Order: sequence, then structure tokens, then C-alpha cells
Amino acid sequence: MTSSIVSGPRCRGAPRKVRDRRTGPDASANKGRCGERHAAGIIPHVTTPVPAPFGLNRAIADLRPYAFTQLRARQDELAAQGVRLINFGVGDPEDETPQFIRDALVASITPASRYPTAAGLPALKQAIASWLSRRFGVTVDPERHALPANGAKEALYNLTSLVLDPPGTPGRRDLVAVPELAYQVYGDSVILHHGEVFPLPLGSDWLPDLDAITPEIGRRLAILWLNSPHNPTGSVAPVAHYRRALDLAHQYGFLVASDEAYSELWFDAPPAGLLQACTDPDFSHAIVVNTLSKRSNMTAYRSGLIAGDARVIAAMKNVRPRIGVATPEFIQKAAIAAWNDEVHVEAQRARYAVRRDLFLDLCARKNLTVEASQGAFYLWIRVPDRVPGRDARVFASELLDNGIIVLPGSFMGPRGSEYVRLAFVPAIETCRDAVAILDRIL
Ligand SMILES: Cc1ncc(COP(=O)(O)O)c(C=O)c1O
Repeated sequence: MTSSIVSGPRCRGAPRKVRDRRTGPDASANKGRCGERHAAGIIPHVTTPVPAPFGLNRAIADLRPYAFTQLRARQDELAAQGVRLINFGVGDPEDETPQFIRDALVASITPASRYPTAAGLPALKQAIASWLSRRFGVTVDPERHALPANGAKEALYNLTSLVLDPPGTPGRRDLVAVPELAYQVYGDSVILHHGEVFPLPLGSDWLPDLDAITPEIGRRLAILWLNSPHNPTGSVAPVAHYRRALDLAHQYGFLVASDEAYSELWFDAPPAGLLQACTDPDFSHAIVVNTLSKRSNMTAYRSGLIAGDARVIAAMKNVRPRIGVATPEFIQKAAIAAWNDEVHVEAQRARYAVRRDLFLDLCARKNLTVEASQGAFYLWIRVPDRVPGRDARVFASELLDNGIIVLPGSFMGPRGSEYVRLAFVPAIETCRDAVAILDRIL
């Protein structure tokens, strides 16, 4: 029996061609080959049909390039030329993880190593519930409403898999609303799970315009993503915004997912959170993701929380053991120490406030307009009129040539094309050096 691969290169959307290999009774249909041999009395081989050629998930081609990857290539070029680079592009805190948190981690390393559970240590869930209660005044059952996560990003990504049905499911909700400027993970996860992103317009206050959720959209929505304080603009949503989102969620039956990664980085008053807007004790239709990355300078630890709707938490508990996202116990123990302490968070906020003032003063001196920027460690700066086309990439390149890295807003979406995002994460002395450079060149 002959077998040959008959397919040529496969186009997107084109049906896969299969190998021409048949066995058993079907083989007789393969006229001119096996059929004739059967007739001649040759017993056919019993083989497993060979599947279509291996191919990657087609959705991968639909992913936007990762913004930081685009930044890094140019930085590498300049670094090779000996330019001193000061990085305000990536929001990775540069201050130390507090000593007591590092100590808690080291003290928790055991001689024997055992698998951690995805459900997490009861003491960590209790610490999370207590923190949510102290911070937002909400009553969270640590077992039914809370789970640890390996940082926010992992939880943001994996939430989609719990909510989006497989393509082709009758009545499937296929849309996920994502603010038109947003942390890339929400949209990437939708694409890789074969859903469709509905870009939610941002209003003049840089908050998602919830009026865009018309009945037609609402009925198709699986998830509405909110993020306050907002990356990249630093806008902060009032509790009324969350209430309105939840009303829509109850009306149309979708889930509101709130990424509150920056909730502890504020300058005037603590921002509201989604759980505060819930009126029922099981937080139905509401899920919150938070993290120790920004609050406690723990990006390397990968430790965060998921809290809210008891049904979603139950589904998470069912699925997470299967996907290898259990947090190592020594990290969970460090996380308990971190959630239980506010003193270090206050100290960190004070450090950021000094840096923020430094750049706000600079912007005022240089007539640069800063919009939103009430929370998180971002300033959302309008590109000055003198820059051709008021193009964020041109302005960012100009700064980069002088060693100052900022993120062009256009990397996060077209609505950001006239803004740059400055993350004031470097140490205060480094910020002062940068301000001196900017004072000279702007
Ligand atoms: C809005 C937002 N959410 C989540 C994250 C990631 O948080 P984590 O380090 O906990 O994965 C980031 C990181 O920059 C972010 O900007």
C-alpha cells in the first residue's frame, strides 16, 4: 500500500488536506490502489489513520507584537553604542522587596520539596480575605471567594478559558470587551481562546465608556475587562463606574473582571474596587485580580490573588490543578507576610509620590500636558505640538536618543498615538538625573 502526503502549504481558513492512507473496508473506496490489492486477496495492514500535518494554533498569527519586545530591540542598539539608558518604559518596580518578606521566603524553604496545591494554603486565603476586608470593607469567605494566583498575569490569561465556550457551541458568547488601551494580556488571551475582542472606547476621562455596551453587544459579551488605576493612563474609576458595569453584567449575563494590580499605588485617596460595588454576598458576576508585584515590589515572586464570584472561584479550583499554576509554598508564605503588612506599602507610596512630583514639576515647567495619571506609577503625557504629527513614536525616539526610555502610547493602541507613558519606577537619584537631561533637551 502506498501512502503519500498530498497536501501542499495550508492557507489560513482553508480545509486541511489529509494523507492518502486508508485501511480496512474504506480502502476499497480508494480506487486503483488498495481496492485492487484487496481484490487480489492481499490482507491490508491495520494502521491508525495519520492525522493532518502538525500546525500551530492559527490565532498566534493574530497576536500583536509584544510592546516591550519592540522597545528592547532599539534599546539594545543604543546600549551597544554606549548610551546610558534610563528606563521609564517598563512598569517593573526597581525598589527592593522588603527584608521581612524575603526573610519569610527563606525561612519557608524546606529540605524536602513537595508539590504545592493550586487551591493554596488556607493561611494565605485567610490573609487575602482579611486584606480585602481591611482595604475594601468587604466580607470574603476565604474558601469560597478567594484563591492565590501566580501573579496577576497568569490569572488574567487563564480566566478566559473558564468563560469562553469552544467555537461552534450553540449560543456561545464570543465577545470580550477590552478597553481600547489596555494591558495586552486580556486581548491576547481572547485571541488565543478563539474569541473576539470588542475594543471598549475610552471617554475623555480615560475611563471605559460603558454606553458602548449596547443590547446587541451586551448579549454577546462573555467578559467585560476593567482596569483601575489604569495602565497606561493612570485613570481611576469611581465606585459608581463599577456599579454601572455590574448592573449591565446582571442585565445581560456577562462577567465583569477587574484588574486591580495598581490599587495600592495612589496619591490622594485609595481607589475603589469592584467588590465594593457588589450587593450580593456571593459577588455574582464580579471577579477581581490583584497582585503583590506592584504593592510590595515582588514581581519576581509571581504572587497575586483572584477573588469574587463563588462559581468562578469553584471553576478555577477545578481547572487550575490541571494547568500547573500552583504557587510554591515558600512564595505563598512570603505572600502571607506581605498581605498582612501595610507599613511597607505606605513607605513605597511615599517613594513614588516624590518621584511623581519631580516629573509633574518638570512637565509644568516644560508646558507638557499630563492627563489622567491619578493612580499607578504612570504619567500619561501628551506629545507636544512641535513634534511632527504629534506622533508618540517620534517623541519617544527623540527621548530615547538622549537615553530616556518611555513607552509610546501607540504601542498600546491607536488611541494612545499622541501620548507617551512614563513609569516613574527608577530610584530617586536616577529620576533626578533623568529630569536634568529632560530639562536640557525639552
Ligand atoms: C494592568 C496590569 N495588570 C497586571 C500586570 C501584571 O501583574 P503581575 O506581575 O502580578 O503578573 C501588569 C504588569 O505590568 C499590569 O500593568
